[in-house]
Amino acid sequence: MTEVSRAADLLRAGELVAFPTETVYGLGADASNSQAIAKIFAAKGRPADHPVIVHLPDVSHLERWAIEVPEAAIKLANAFWPGPLTLILNRHPAVADAVTGGQNTVGLRVPSHPLALQLLREFDGGIAAPSANRFGRVSPTTAAHVREELGNSVSMILDGGPCAVGIESTILDLSGVEPRILRPGMLDASALAGVLGVAPAFGGVQGQPRVSGSLEAHYAPTTPLQLVSAADIAETAHKAIQANRRIAVLAMQPPAFSHDKLVWRAASANAAAFAHDLYARLRELDATGCDLILVANPPATEPWRAVVDRLRRAAAGSNRQ
Ligand code: TXA
Ligand code: MG
Repeated sequence: MTEVSRAADLLRAGELVAFPTETVYGLGADASNSQAIAKIFAAKGRPADHPVIVHLPDVSHLERWAIEVPEAAIKLANAFWPGPLTLILNRHPAVADAVTGGQNTVGLRVPSHPLALQLLREFDGGIAAPSANRFGRVSPTTAAHVREELGNSVSMILDGGPCAVGIESTILDLSGVEPRILRPGMLDASALAGVLGVAPAFGGVQGQPRVSGSLEAHYAPTTPLQLVSAADIAETAHKAIQANRRIAVLAMQPPAFSHDKLVWRAASANAAAFAHDLYARLRELDATGCDLILVANPPATEPWRAVVDRLRRAAAGSNRQ
């Protein structure tokens, strides 16, 4: 029996299987089995009213999960699936409350990682999968990350190597009057606008922002993280070292001085490459045992929007600890 068939069998038996997607690793359960989904929340330590994304083998499965599939959804699916785009649609009545967090909508996506697609085809149904990390923590982009954090609570981890995209999918809400980006991702607004024919709005409608990835404090390493302008990195690092703190820096340029209390990791000047490495770097810097992680603020331009979004939340999350 292949690994993928074994994984599909485990899912059918109500067990958890972690699997790679092109964005980050997912913690999967049979999306039609509420007890299996409850295991996801227990493993992650995640509040049960947070909805999870349902992963599908292909676009033809949409109508089993959404009560009405708008034309825009079909167009976007044809353009970008399999790929890093999650669509929020009005749910089919058969969809379990455990999946939607009791909301009227459901998040759906067809991921493009070959192992994920093999698993979905073999399973031939929806796989509910949030990112395979503890709630509020950095998403895993390798199988080793999943093993470190959730190794004891999953029945199997499929290893598909490092994730190509590196940060979570773009979430587009098509359930309301206008398309809205609830979570920016590497598939950006202009790409979506090109297919939709209109520019999507940003952010949720007030009063219904049930996207845990949109919480202020999210995606945080355990070490405090501070975003600093590239020009201020050296001075900030210098002051912290004088206060006897050990500093890790993630920046495109090396700091102007070296010191045994200073670790530097090179950040890419290309947004896609930066996103690809981001979570692995944060985990690495977290593991250096430093007291503070300084990250040089990337450019405030559209290609960097999703990366800046994750960095801001990481900074906010680490300040809460
Ligand atoms: O790239 C990704 O999307 C990864 C991979 C594994 O597919 N998954 C992921 O899942 O990031 P998770 O659970 O960590 O984040 C999914 C986000 C959550 O913030 C959740 O609140 C939101 O999607 N979401 C799911 N269903 C929703 C719904 N019906 N309405 C609003 N937000 C929803
Ligand atoms: Mg997550």
